[in-house]
Amino acid sequence: MSYYRHHVFFCCNKREPPETCCADRGASDMQSYAKLRIKELGMNGQGKVRINKAGCLDRCEEGPVLVVYPEEVWYTYVDRQDIDEIIDSHIVNGRVVERLRI
Ligand code: FES
Repeated sequence: MSYYRHHVFFCCNKREPPETCCADRGASDMQSYAKLRIKELGMNGQGKVRINKAGCLDRCEEGPVLVVYPEEVWYTYVDRQDIDEIIDSHIVNGRVVERLRI
């Protein structure tokens, strides 16, 4: 059994202009929001869900990006509604959000 049921990595990397990066697209705020939501749902911790910051995941042009393990599903997102949908659909109910998948 894995230590976390879901392990989520948000790229929060910053690159210098003119390079595009997840940090310039609100990644840190969205990572903090996701972490808070998971905690509010009582889903944080061992055997449950972990929301981590990551360095560059090398999909900068498609960003901001996050990846959910163990399913290895990659997403992009725009706002809190997208994060809510990823949490409610994928993390809570196991249904991949195809419209945000990359
Ligand atoms: S800066 Fe986020 S994937 Fe590279």
